[in-house]
Amino acid sequence: MKTVKVDTSSPYDILIGRGLIKNAGPLVKNVSDAEKITVITDTNVEKYYAESVVSSLKNSGFDTSLFVYEAGEKSKNLGTIEKMYSHMADFRMSRKDIVVALGGGVCGDMAGFAAASYMRGIDFIQIPTSLLAQVDSSVGGKTGVDIAQGKNLVGAFHQPVLVIIDPDTLSTLPDYYINDGMAEVIKYGCIKDSALFKILEEKNALEIIDDVIESCVSIKRDVVNRDEKESGERMLLNFGHTLGHSLEKIYNFEGLSHGQAVAIGMVMITEASEKAGLTEKGTLEKIISLCKKYNLPVSDNADVDEIINYCASDKKAGGGNVNLVLLRKIGDSFIRKTPLDELNGFLG
Ligand SMILES: NC(=O)c1ccc[n+]([C@@H]2O[C@H](COP(=O)([O-])OP(=O)(O)OC[C@H]3O[C@@H](n4cnc5c(N)ncnc54)[C@H](O)[C@@H]3O)[C@@H](O)[C@H]2O)c1
Repeated sequence: MKTVKVDTSSPYDILIGRGLIKNAGPLVKNVSDAEKITVITDTNVEKYYAESVVSSLKNSGFDTSLFVYEAGEKSKNLGTIEKMYSHMADFRMSRKDIVVALGGGVCGDMAGFAAASYMRGIDFIQIPTSLLAQVDSSVGGKTGVDIAQGKNLVGAFHQPVLVIIDPDTLSTLPDYYINDGMAEVIKYGCIKDSALFKILEEKNALEIIDDVIESCVSIKRDVVNRDEKESGERMLLNFGHTLGHSLEKIYNFEGLSHGQAVAIGMVMITEASEKAGLTEKGTLEKIISLCKKYNLPVSDNADVDEIINYCASDKKAGGGNVNLVLLRKIGDSFIRKTPLDELNGFLG
């Protein structure tokens, strides 16, 4: 088992190891003296993993209940959160009890937000089961839900007390979501780790996924340790995301997955910054090849003006500027505050 230690305002461990979820009970017992646990999961993950996690928790003496929501981003709303609150209140959860998020990024974001707000905040544990959640969303404490006006517009920073990553769970994850998570993996190589990028080029990431996950969460840990609330360096994690989010909105979050949109966003922004002389020549080509290797798209026909319009409405754009994350070269990134009215010239 590998352990990555996070040193945020409330420190916690990220445990990575095959078969770990079968030992969820003893692992949770090490960090909590709760009496009751609500395990939150979705209709897909329930089929494969709920029983073993719940029985391990029960065997360790926890009074455990299960809350299951319909799988998918459409469930990530305040209606589902309200049902979670009711379930936890009916189960008579107290302030020292805990929530376990067993699932992908949607599950972690919602269960984390429910934990952040139920009784003004109780502990929660992440057991991420999608690649995206294992390399990215389960670490760092961003929780929340979507509202009609935008994705992730309501939420809270709430760090988990433990993250348990079992790479064996990826065996049941559909390829579509494996590719999706690989976009975030490539992102980490681009922004912080040229050695990781090289490994992704030379090997099949899925054959060495435990090491890849460790590299990714270690990068995220380092960034979040230095900038927990995203006032500076943490923005680097948004490489490819500003344009990617715009593309997702143009397609109304259907037809183009988050990872696919991020891949196109990384390519578009690097094409522009290489043209502007801000990025080492040849970087674009490397990113395109790597995205293609992992079955990710590298271009889209969406109109640049439309993309820019959506950038302007992004919750992270402020004061007429957008913080673009650019690469000097692979493994070396920086933030460039760019006026929205210069974005067309930059991308065009
Ligand atoms: N909090 C953060 O820092 C952060 C970062 C990035 C993304 N996110 C959020 O994460 C969400 C996307 O995450 P996601 O793609 O994991 O979504 P998800 O939770 O919907 O999971 C994707 C799909 O995979 C299924 N699934 C998950 N694990 C499985 C497994 N082991 N076997 C079989 N099926 C499995 C789910 O049921 C779902 O259908 C978005 O809502 C995004 O906003 C949050």
